[in-house]
Amino acid sequence: MPEWDALEMNRLREAAGVYGAKLLRRPTACVVTFGCQMNARDSEKLLGVLLAAGFEEAPDEHADLVVINTCTVRENANERLYGHLGHLNSMKREHPDKLIAICGCMMQEADEIEKIRRKYPFVDIVFGTHNLYRFPALLAERIESGKRVFEVWDSPRGIVEDMPKKREVPYKSGVNISFGCDNFCSYCIVPYVRGRERSRRPEEILREIRELAADGVIEIMLLGQNVNSYGKGLEEPISFAGLLQQVCKVDGLQRIRFMTSHPKDLSDELIRVMAENEKICRHLHLPLQSGSSRILKAMNRRYDKEKYLALTEKIRAAVPDISLTTDIIVGFPGETEEDFEETLDVVRRARFDSAFTFIYSPRTGTPAASMPDQVPAAVVKDRFARLLDLVQKIGAEQSGRDVGRTLPALVEGLDAETPGRVTGRLGNNVMVHFPGDASLIGQIVNVYLKEVHGFYYIGEKV
Ligand code: SAH
Ligand code: SF4
Ligand code: F3S
Repeated sequence: MPEWDALEMNRLREAAGVYGAKLLRRPTACVVTFGCQMNARDSEKLLGVLLAAGFEEAPDEHADLVVINTCTVRENANERLYGHLGHLNSMKREHPDKLIAICGCMMQEADEIEKIRRKYPFVDIVFGTHNLYRFPALLAERIESGKRVFEVWDSPRGIVEDMPKKREVPYKSGVNISFGCDNFCSYCIVPYVRGRERSRRPEEILREIRELAADGVIEIMLLGQNVNSYGKGLEEPISFAGLLQQVCKVDGLQRIRFMTSHPKDLSDELIRVMAENEKICRHLHLPLQSGSSRILKAMNRRYDKEKYLALTEKIRAAVPDISLTTDIIVGFPGETEEDFEETLDVVRRARFDSAFTFIYSPRTGTPAASMPDQVPAAVVKDRFARLLDLVQKIGAEQSGRDVGRTLPALVEGLDAETPGRVTGRLGNNVMVHFPGDASLIGQIVNVYLKEVHGFYYIGEKV
C-alpha cells in the first residue's frame, strides 16, 4: 500500500518558495472542479496540498497556479475544458510565469493527453486520477526543471490515506468510502477512467469522520460510485449498512448522506438501517437510467422496470417521508418510442422529487458507442423535452407535501435574491428560504414551512 509522502511535501514547500521568489510574492492557486462529488473531494485534497506548501488560495483563474480537475462522463464535460484552456492561454500571455495543471478523469484518456501535448503547449502539468497523491512531486518537478511534466498511470496502485484537505465549507464534508467502479454500464466511461472498485477500510473512514466532527463538521456525505457494494474485497468484509450504523454512532455528527446507490445492490438491511436512524437523511438518489427493461438490459444495469418500481415501493413503505431522486438517460442506442414511454411510466409511478436528465453521449471505448441504431438528434431532443416537462410537473407536486410542517434545516448561506433571508437545506435535500442573517450559517435550525414556490419552500424560523 503506497503511503502519503511527507518528504515530497517538503520538496514542494521549497519549490513553492523558489516560485514565490521569482514572482516577488506568495504564489496564489485556484483549483477548478468539473464533474461529480468525487472530483470535488479530490479537489479539496489538491487545495489542501497547495495550502500546506505555502500557496495562498485565490478566488478565480487569475491565480498564479490554476489546476483544472476534469470530468469526461459526457462530451459536453470535455468541451468545457477546451473552452477554459483558450481563456487560460490568453491570461498566460499576460503573465508568462503562470502555471497550468490538468488532472482528473479526462486525463485518463490517451487521445486527450496527446491532444494537450501537441496542441496546448502552455499546459505545464498533466496527471490522472490514479496518481493524485503524486501532485506535490509533479508540481515540484515542474518548478525545479522548468519543463512540462506528464504522468498518468493506467491503473490504481492502492489507496493513499492522510493527504491534507481543505474543505470548501466548514460545516459539511464529503468522505470517500470507495473508489472506482466494477459495474461497466454499457454507456459509461467511469470504470475506465477510475479503475476497479476499491473500498477504504472502515477504521480509516471512521477516523476521518471523527476528525471532521471534532473540527466542527455536522453533515457528511459518504461517497462512492456505488456505495451499496461497499466492503467487497476488504480483509474483514462489512456491508454498507454495517458501515452506516457505525458512522451513526460518531458524536457530533447530525446528518449523514450518501451517493450513489445502484438499485441492483440496494439491500433490505440498508432500508432498515435508514428507517431506524434519524441521523440518516430522508433522501435516496437511485439512478433509474431507463424505464424500459429491454434498454436496461442493453445498458447492463442488471435490474428491470418491475424490480426498480418494487424497490421504490418498499423504500416508501419503510421510510414514508423519503425523497427519491434519480438520473435518467434519453436516447440510448435502440431506444424506441415504446421504450421511452416506459421511462415516462416509471417517472409517473415512482414520483421522483427531482431527476437529473441527460442526453445520451457516446463515449469512445464503451460498448454502447458502437451499438447500432443510434437515435437521431431531433428525436432525442423531442423526448428530452417531454421527459423534462413530466419530471418538473411531478417534482412540483411532490415538493408541496411538507407545507405546514416544521422541519430542521441546515443553513448554507444568504439568499442570493432576497436581502435579509437565508437559505437552508432540509434533510430530504429540498431548499427553504427564510428570514435570518449570516450568523445562522452552518447551524441546523427548525423552520416552519409556510408555502411552496415551485421546488423550494418559504418558511419561518421557530
Ligand atoms: N455511479 C453513478 C453515476 C455516475 S455518472 C451511478 O451509477 O449512478 C452520473 C450520471 O451520468 C449517471 O447516473 C448517468 O445517468 C449519466 N451518464 C453516465 N454516462 C453517460 C453517457 N454516456 N451519456 C449520458 N449520460 C451519462
Ligand atoms: Fe457508471 Fe454504472 Fe459505474 Fe455508475 S454504476 S459509475 S453509471 S458504470
Ligand atoms: Fe465525471 Fe469522473 Fe465523476 S468522469 S462524473 S468526474 S468520476
